[in-house]
Amino acid sequence: MEKKVFIKTFGCQMNEYDSNRIYDSISKIGYHKSEDQNNVDCYILNTCHIRDKAKEKVFHEIGRIKEIYREKTKPVMIIAGCVAQAENQEVLNRDPYVDIVIGPQSYHKLNDILKNHIKKKKIEETEFDSVSKFRYYDGIENKNNKVSAYLTIQEGCDKFCHFCVVPYTRGPEYSRPFNQIINEAEQLVKNGVKEITLLGQNVNAYSFNENSKAYKLSDLINHLEKFSEIKRIRYTTSHPKDMTDDLIECYKKNKKLMPFVHLPIQSGSDRILKLMNRKHKVEDYLDIYYKIKKLNPEVEFSSDFIIGYPGETEKDFSETMALLEEIRFVNSFSFIFSPRPGTTAANLEIVDKEISKKRLIIIQEKLFKNQKVLNKSMEDKNIEVLVENKMTDQNKLFGRNRYLSAVIFEGNKNNIGNLVDVKINKSNQNTLFGEVGKSMKAA
Ligand code: SAM
Ligand code: SF4
Ligand code: F3S
Repeated sequence: MEKKVFIKTFGCQMNEYDSNRIYDSISKIGYHKSEDQNNVDCYILNTCHIRDKAKEKVFHEIGRIKEIYREKTKPVMIIAGCVAQAENQEVLNRDPYVDIVIGPQSYHKLNDILKNHIKKKKIEETEFDSVSKFRYYDGIENKNNKVSAYLTIQEGCDKFCHFCVVPYTRGPEYSRPFNQIINEAEQLVKNGVKEITLLGQNVNAYSFNENSKAYKLSDLINHLEKFSEIKRIRYTTSHPKDMTDDLIECYKKNKKLMPFVHLPIQSGSDRILKLMNRKHKVEDYLDIYYKIKKLNPEVEFSSDFIIGYPGETEKDFSETMALLEEIRFVNSFSFIFSPRPGTTAANLEIVDKEISKKRLIIIQEKLFKNQKVLNKSMEDKNIEVLVENKMTDQNKLFGRNRYLSAVIFEGNKNNIGNLVDVKINKSNQNTLFGEVGKSMKAA
């Protein structure tokens, strides 16, 4: 009998990719993706542990699901993702509603666990086994047929920034075999995908050796560039330390690589970068910035900033603000430092909360202003947009420009999957609004 499964996904793009792969895989044992979370046989929460009260959010979600199913048969309740990995015992023991706890590197075992699942018997699976996970995924077709799709090429992290939980939740760095990634990209292309975003916690640390050739991220980009069906290539998230010259060169010669680099710096103060164990200085970052800008002035940078890292003084913060004067970051993220259990910075004395909040407001004002200025500069111009879908309940189309900004516009739905010229009439901080101009070929 056909069963239904719903996955609620939190966190980063890697979780989104995993959720899609779980859907691809779980259909083999008769569970089919449901859009209606109120009526399923299996409910999966794919969780994130990066900041704040991640664990409490999970228990809150479980409470919400319990309420939905109060008068119905309880679904098999699975907690997956980074909270499952980091807080496995507590998640399993604290709420009897949870049946299975499974970490991100064990999804290849999920079908067998589900098949053998006996009511009231709880299961925990949190081994780090990326090799088996991807070997298993390689045998299962990637059915993603959206215009823009993620493709994980690397998982895990060996860098151990002192604030970050990822090395503990995703395990050591692992790079997938080059050919397997290309095979999966071919499947996506066959499904109609036009934009591929290569993913990894340290995507530019991608390194795979075979027959005495060392494949890097630039090799993947160069290879994907040759697929005529692929119109755009992106990658995220990269680390300044792994921004090698071969990758930088791609911004000159690769027409399909978008001129948008998401390169987190976290702080503009060398002292704080050292305390964070970031293994690079502000100068190294500026070096990368100017090298890329010289090769291709159209490239824009975005970044992540942590505000109020333990020990951050007014001087450190003013250095971050000075960096924002030098680089006009767009589309960036900024968060107040959140102590994560098990990390080196977990027990350090935190900066006064009110001070951190004030600093966050200051930096966000600046970042949001940059964003508004960039978006405003596109008004009355024709910009290239990859059309992704029709807006729900609206007669408008949704797409993204080269810098990943959302574009909502009037146009023909036959344009979905195409690059089109959109004349921008209006903008705000987050979105550009316009109407379709003449049709464009892939750049
Ligand atoms: N690997 C990427 C890098 O090294 O830049 C970042 C990956 S992490 C999933 C995404 C962002 O979350 C980080 O760049 C950082 O700004 C933020 N982050 C991670 N841990 C944090 C913490 N404890 N408190 C606040 N923000 C945090
Ligand atoms: Fe976390 Fe640092 Fe690894 Fe990025 S490089 S995932 S911030 S430990
Ligand atoms: Fe969150 Fe795990 Fe991604 S902690 S940001 S879901 S790697």
